[in-house]
Amino acid sequence: EIFDAQGAVALPGFVDLHTHLREPGREDTETIETGSRAAALGGYTAVFAMANTDPVADNAVVVEHVWRRGREVGLVDVHPVGAVTVGLKGEKLAELGTMARSQANVRLFSDDGLCVADPLIMRRALEYTKALDAVIAQHAEEPRLTVGAQAHEGETAARLGLAGWPAVAEEAIVARDCLLARHVGARLHVCHVSTAGTVDVLAWAKARGTRVSAEVTPHHLLLDDSRLATYDPVNKVNPPLRGHSDAAALRQALADGVVDCVATDHAPHAPQDKDCEWSAARPGMLGLQTALGIVVKTMVEPGLLDWRGVARVMSERPAEIAGLPDHGRPIAVGEPATLALVDPDARWTVDGAALASIAGNTPYEGMELPGAVIATLLRGRFTARDGKVA
Ligand code: DOR
Ligand code: ZN
Ligand code: ZN
Repeated sequence: EIFDAQGAVALPGFVDLHTHLREPGREDTETIETGSRAAALGGYTAVFAMANTDPVADNAVVVEHVWRRGREVGLVDVHPVGAVTVGLKGEKLAELGTMARSQANVRLFSDDGLCVADPLIMRRALEYTKALDAVIAQHAEEPRLTVGAQAHEGETAARLGLAGWPAVAEEAIVARDCLLARHVGARLHVCHVSTAGTVDVLAWAKARGTRVSAEVTPHHLLLDDSRLATYDPVNKVNPPLRGHSDAAALRQALADGVVDCVATDHAPHAPQDKDCEWSAARPGMLGLQTALGIVVKTMVEPGLLDWRGVARVMSERPAEIAGLPDHGRPIAVGEPATLALVDPDARWTVDGAALASIAGNTPYEGMELPGAVIATLLRGRFTARDGKVA
């Protein structure tokens, strides 16, 4: 069988540390199958499915269900993320050890959607995950500073009359958790870094040897709060789209390695939860099929990253952070390939209705993106080919 890859760039299959697949509970917006299709088409060969499902993935039964369903679909390695606290309530630690030792082999724990805000619970969670050689991925948001918040606190929010979500709500938690992680000797992963100040905190923490890693989303690299002028809830996301200079600082931090990798925070939502008033809309946007294009547009085209760098931020670093030995590295001779083949010169136009996700909440509707995934292979088998699931 011959596949013509003339002119293509071969990258190790992408690894997404932050995906919301919505199964179980909200299969009207995404299932493990439809999300896996979106992942394969986006060049991903491994995704980490966040725990804020219904029921919450805070026990071995739910994480094993997600893991098994991912295997059945077989298009991408679906790794369940375990909740840190029971029911994401932030009060009582979930049975992290049972999830880690289950068939799902959970290595990443997160209460994403919510923050582990109590410092004592966070300290205990870090001690627990240190013993398990696992990682906590923190959605950094001091909840007392974001009550009622609707948009990045700044001029745009003030002009539109939207309650502000201050940068310090994120930065205070990131600083605290870096200190706690260092104190405990545990690893910490910071979800969706969104402000220039967080970049400064991370640089400081890394310089003094803290075991911290961080991700940035494609939307925080490209978009800023100037998009809010239309009041279109497609742009509503947590953390919010920040200022123009924040996005610039995030791009530089990703180029410099202060921010380690790109993660999508792929967050499908039903039409009724997006086609409504801004204040009633749910936060989140699709990301799996557009991530590469946004990274090429924001990082490769301006010369901030070369293709080697794209491999680093989309695959190598996330695979290292999550401890996936069979991902994120060049293929040895004779080894079944796990990779994404990209046409660097192709351009395509985003059409939400044509994406593989059930939901269609993409903020990039009608946008022309550079770089197209022409094929994805998982352990030697095509999972996507010529824009179709294989
Ligand atoms: O925008 C977001 N959407 N941020 C989160 O933290 C949760 C996510 C979701 O589950 O929809
Ligand atoms: Zn989050
Ligand atoms: Zn999320």
